[in-house]
Amino acid sequence: MDLKLYLEVATSAALIAGEIIIQYWGNLKNIEEKGAAGDLVTEADKLSETAILNIIKKQFPEHLILAEESGHFGNNKSRYLWAIDPLDGTTNYAHGYPVVAVSIGLLIDGIPQVGVVYNPLRNELFTGAKGFGATLNHQPISVSQTLELDKSLLVTGFAYDRRLSEDNNYAEFCYLTHLTQGVRRSGSAASDLAEVACGRLDGYWERGLKPWDMAAGIVLVEEAGGKVSAYDQSPLIIDSGRILATNSKIHSSLSKALEKTPNLNISFK
Ligand code: IPD
Ligand code: CA
Ligand code: CA
Repeated sequence: MDLKLYLEVATSAALIAGEIIIQYWGNLKNIEEKGAAGDLVTEADKLSETAILNIIKKQFPEHLILAEESGHFGNNKSRYLWAIDPLDGTTNYAHGYPVVAVSIGLLIDGIPQVGVVYNPLRNELFTGAKGFGATLNHQPISVSQTLELDKSLLVTGFAYDRRLSEDNNYAEFCYLTHLTQGVRRSGSAASDLAEVACGRLDGYWERGLKPWDMAAGIVLVEEAGGKVSAYDQSPLIIDSGRILATNSKIHSSLSKALEKTPNLNISFK
C-alpha cells in the first residue's frame, strides 16, 4: 500500500483544482441551487471536480470514487474509495468570502488514510497520511494543548436541511457558545477539520455531513494528534454524517456537553 504515492497524486489534483477556483474567484457567471434551499453549485465546483476526476481515474482506474457533483464511479468491489469535494464552502465562494477548500480523501477498507485539504485563496495546503503525520505547507502540524472546554474555541456548521429538520444543531450551537470562549461557523467543513488539526481551533462537531466533507480532514486531525469519533465517543461511522473532532484533550467534555444539550424550545414559523 503506497500511501505516499496516493498522497502525491491527491496533492497534485488539489493544486490543479485550486487554480480553477482562483480563476473563477469573483468571476462567476453561473450560480445554481441544486437541492435544498441555499445549496449552491457553480461552474467552479463542476470544473474543479472534472479536473480532479481526470487525474484520479487515470492514475487509479481500478479504484472507486465518490465525488459530490457526479456521484459514484468505478469498481464497487474496490477496497479503495476516493471521497472528493471539489469546492467545500460554495456559499462562501459565491459571496466572495475566502474560506473554501478542495478536499480529497482516500478511504482504504472504509478507513480514511490519506487526506488533502487545500485553500487556494489563502495558499494553505494541508496534507496527511496514516502513519506519516500531517502538514501545513509542508511543515508538520499538531493539535492544540487546550485542556478545558471553558478555555476552548470551537467550530461547527449547519446542514442545508436546517430549516426543515428539528435536528438542526441550533441548540448545541447556543449551549456550546455558553460553555466555551466561542463557537465559530466557517462554512467549510473540510477547513474546520484542518483548523483543528493545526491547533487554531480546539474542537469541531457537525451533523448532516457527507463522506466527501470529512474524509480528508479526519486524516489531518488524527495525524496531528487529535481524536475523531461519533458524538458519543463511539467509533465514527462516516455515513452517519455526524462527527466530533478535537485536540483529544477536550473530547470527552465536548461529547458530554453535546449529550446533555438542553432543548431550545423556540421555533421559527
Ligand atoms: C458545506 C460546508 C459547510 C457545512 C455543510 C456542507 P459545500 O459543503 O462544508 O461548512 O456546514 O453541511 O454541505 O456545500 O460548501 O460543499
Ligand atoms: Ca462540502
Ligand atoms: Ca462542495
